[in-house]
Amino acid sequence: MKGVILAGGTGTRLYPLTRLINKHLLPVGSHPMVCYGIERLRQAGVTDILIIIGKQSAGLYTDFFGSGEKYGVNLTYRVQETAGGIAEALELAAGFIHHKEKFVVLLGDNLFLDDLTPFVEKFKHQPTGSARVLLKLVDDPRRYGVPVFDAAHPQLIAYIEEKPKKPKSKYSVTGIYMYDDAVFDKIKEISRSARGELEITDVNNLYARSGMLEYNVLQLWWGDAGTFDSLQEAGIHMRGVLP
Ligand code: G1P
Repeated sequence: MKGVILAGGTGTRLYPLTRLINKHLLPVGSHPMVCYGIERLRQAGVTDILIIIGKQSAGLYTDFFGSGEKYGVNLTYRVQETAGGIAEALELAAGFIHHKEKFVVLLGDNLFLDDLTPFVEKFKHQPTGSARVLLKLVDDPRRYGVPVFDAAHPQLIAYIEEKPKKPKSKYSVTGIYMYDDAVFDKIKEISRSARGELEITDVNNLYARSGMLEYNVLQLWWGDAGTFDSLQEAGIHMRGVLP
């Protein structure tokens, strides 16, 4: 299985820091943020990884990671010219993923302590054309995509609401997704949201509505490090995770 890490975007909520450097290279503990995602993929046996980066700091990625050899992975880079949402960034992975090939997608600002191996193993046994997302029980689901479960089929998500005012469950859809190449056809079916982006939630809802979206729940700490508070919190939790 391959991996794709989305590490572009403008990181406006972290200005002025992200005027200097891309968000995913900011320090978390003793490492740049994106190192943790690379390590989680490697740990799950996913070593062929595409990193989608922005133009900003592009050279720093190759300076720091090179081919990925030192990190036990094989890295490919692709540059996203403009930030237009998660699904638009993901489209850039189309040439990297072969016909019917399965892959794991990580949002580079999602940091977590669970080992992905058991979830990746589950997904390997799912039918072609289906998808899997990882969830986390959270205090305030209104900040995230929130799943509504299928009452008749408890292993399935019926649909996801993006940042609902009145969440119907206490779970967040994390930025950890598993697809095969069928996802690229789904991305072509969606249109831009009110915030002008191609939303990954719209893609996931195409799977959910046809009974093709399974899930697992992360058991350990998870956070998305998109704000100063969450960046600091991530630094505390991730300290010591990498040597
Ligand atoms: C995105 C997704 C959202 C998900 C979150 C996880 O939100 O749209 O469904 O819960 O990532 O980090 P964004 O950070 O783009 O607002």
